Amino acid sequence: MDLSRTYPEGVAHVEGRYVPIGEARIPILDRGFVRSDATYDVVHVWKGWFFRLDDHLDRFERNIAAIYMKLPHSRAEIADILTTCVRLSGLRDSYVQMTCTRGLPHPGSRDPRLSVNRFYAFAIPFVWIANEEQRKRGLRLIVSKRERIPPESLDPTVKNFHWIDMTLALYEAYARDHELPILSDRHGNLTEGPGVNLFMLKGGTLLTPRRGMFDGMTRRTVMELCTETNVKIEEADIPGPALATADEVFLSSTAGGLMPVSVVDGRKIGDGAPGPLTRRLHDLYWSKKEKGWLGTKVDYGKT
Ligand SMILES: Cc1ncc(COP(=O)(O)O)c(C=O)c1O
Repeated sequence: MDLSRTYPEGVAHVEGRYVPIGEARIPILDRGFVRSDATYDVVHVWKGWFFRLDDHLDRFERNIAAIYMKLPHSRAEIADILTTCVRLSGLRDSYVQMTCTRGLPHPGSRDPRLSVNRFYAFAIPFVWIANEEQRKRGLRLIVSKRERIPPESLDPTVKNFHWIDMTLALYEAYARDHELPILSDRHGNLTEGPGVNLFMLKGGTLLTPRRGMFDGMTRRTVMELCTETNVKIEEADIPGPALATADEVFLSSTAGGLMPVSVVDGRKIGDGAPGPLTRRLHDLYWSKKEKGWLGTKVDYGKT
C-alpha cells in the first residue's frame, strides 16, 4: 500500500497483507465462504476511539474456542492488526470486523480438524442500520412469521454467518411495507432481528429478550446504562404479540447505537414518535462516547 496516503473507503488485512478494501480477496475454497464455517466480531471506532475493544476481543476469543477454532495470531497481534487497518484508512468513525474462518479444506479430506484456521480483518466507514430519517422518526418493524434458528441447533451467542432466516424475514418486512423484522423462537417469544437486539418499555420496566439471541455489545451497554441511571431493566420471555402494545420500542447495534421504533405490525407505538426513555438513553450513549467512554484511542501516526 502507499503509506503516504489514507484509504477512506477502507482497508483489509488478508493473508498477512494490508490492502485497499476494494482489492481484498479470499480464497474461494475457504470453508468460511463455502460452509459459513466462521465466527466474527464487529467493534467500532467513534471519533478516533475504539469502543470496548477488550470486551469485543474477549467475546471473539470465546466464540472461536466454542466452535473448535484457534486464532493464528495472539490477542495483542489482533489488536495491532485492527488498529493498523483503522490507521491506514484514516477513518475517525469506522466499522471494524475481525473474522476467523475454518480455512481451506485439507487436500483429499473433509475433516474440519485438518484445516488451518484463517484470520481476516477490515475497517470501513461506520455503518448505520437505520438511516438519518429512520433514526429521527423511528423504524417500522414487523414480528416475522419466520422462526429464528433455534439455540439448540446453533448457539446464537456465537456470532455467525447463518443469516438466511433473517434475510428472508427482511423480505417479509418489505412485502408488508415495513423496514425490519424481529424473529421469534419456537415458543413464540421474541429474539432479535438482522444485526439488532430488541428492547421494549412496558409499565415502567424496560424488557429485553432473555434467550435465543446474540449477546450484543450495545445491548450490554444499554443494560449497564439503565443500571447506572436507575431504569428498571429485565431480561424476559416476551411473546410476539406483546411488542405492538409496548409504550416504547428500540433496537440496539454496534452499527448505529440505539434506534427508535415507531410502528410495529402497522400499529403506532406510543404517539408514533421516539419515546422519552429511548431518547434519553440514546443521547446518554452518544454523549458519553464523545468523551472516549470505555474507549481505546487509535494512534493515527502522522495521518
Ligand atoms: C444477530 C445479531 N444480533 C444482534 C447484534 C447486535 O450486537 P452488537 O451490539 O454487538 O453490535 C448483531 C450485531 O451484528 C447481530 O449480528
